[in-house]
Amino acid sequence: MKTILITGGAGFIGSHVVRLFVNKYPQYRIVNLDKLTYAGNLTNLTDIENKPNYVFERGDITDGDQMQQLFDKYQFDGVVHLAAESHVDRSIANPMEFIMTNIVGTVNLLNAARAIWKDGFEGKRFYHISTDEVYGSLGDEGKFLETTPYDPRSPYSASKASSDHLVRAYFHTFHMPVVLSNCSNNYGPYQFPEKLVPLFIHNIRNNKPLPVYGKGENVRDWLYVEDHAIAIDLIFHKGREGETYNIGGNNEWQNIKLIQKLIEIVDLKLGRSAGESLKLITYVKDRAGHDLRYAIDATKIKEELGWEPTVKFTEGFESTVDWYLTNEEWLNNVTSGDYQKYYEQQYVKR
Ligand code: NAD
Ligand code: TYD
Repeated sequence: MKTILITGGAGFIGSHVVRLFVNKYPQYRIVNLDKLTYAGNLTNLTDIENKPNYVFERGDITDGDQMQQLFDKYQFDGVVHLAAESHVDRSIANPMEFIMTNIVGTVNLLNAARAIWKDGFEGKRFYHISTDEVYGSLGDEGKFLETTPYDPRSPYSASKASSDHLVRAYFHTFHMPVVLSNCSNNYGPYQFPEKLVPLFIHNIRNNKPLPVYGKGENVRDWLYVEDHAIAIDLIFHKGREGETYNIGGNNEWQNIKLIQKLIEIVDLKLGRSAGESLKLITYVKDRAGHDLRYAIDATKIKEELGWEPTVKFTEGFESTVDWYLTNEEWLNNVTSGDYQKYYEQQYVKR
């Protein structure tokens, strides 16, 4: 039986990866390590929490000694590393947490893995999950390739870029058996409502202003989260050692167009007249250093591993809206407490 560590498994993407691995691989013991920050929520995993091959460990990747003890205890065969501070706006307000978790936390995991794998790397794998934001900002043309030079422009993307470099450094220097991927924006159930899609669904339902940064002209490439989880499974098992794979939806939307589409779907589902909630659109001060456009060229993962998105955007987007509208209790839970303070600082007191 293999023991696999998934970090950040109580977060948005991590919970989908944990669910996929626990259900698909009964022969693996899946250990979910999560600090349960504001973004981590164990109710994301209630459907699998009692499975015999699933274990939850609360812990903090910035604590190197704690990580070493955890690795000594479980003797992991593989690591799928998703734990991170993940929201650009928070990284602008408080960069240091991003440095600690994303950079120092990643190195702690690399060191702990290296220590328990000291007798050989055969059958071992350290998979680092990253973002397309490390490549910087595109103009109107072109897409990010795996070979695109890094040009991170926010504290979040700079901290992720730094962790990517360190993972590659451990590959080259210590021959650690690593693999990496850089994915575009994800949407789907269980995303914390500080990110565009769940935040705006929540606000439309509650008739609250929809804060569009700048002119709403920025472009993102949207992928359904379960398709990302499928790609992660493939790369973990079949990706070539030391390689990086870009993952994307081939699905670019200008923010304002995406927001209009969202309003159309939510209004219809709430029985409002068509376009009724367009009046909630409120243009606010732009995000500092706001990257204009992200777009992924996912040819490599398609050609090498046969991966392509399986969920059509129109279907994925509609079912995502359905999920947030029917899981009001989940939204209310995660938006109580600290969230109110964040919301005020980010949107009300500016
Ligand atoms: P998220 O913020 O929803 O979840 C992050 C999880 O990490 C939470 O459960 C949190 O409790 C945990 N965590 C944070 N700090 C920790 C610490 N010090 N120790 C242990 N656990 C800690 O993030 P997400 O959107 O699910 O992103 C997961 C990963 O995927 C991140 O590495 C992110 O950079 C990457 N990514 C995200 C997207 C996206 O669109 N959301 C796209 C590409 C890549
Ligand atoms: P976000 O979901 O934060 O993802 P990222 O910044 O990692 O791409 O934001 C997606 C886009 O939506 C981005 O261009 C910023 C914009 N945005 C707004 O216009 N208003 C908001 O309140 C938020 C959270 C994002």
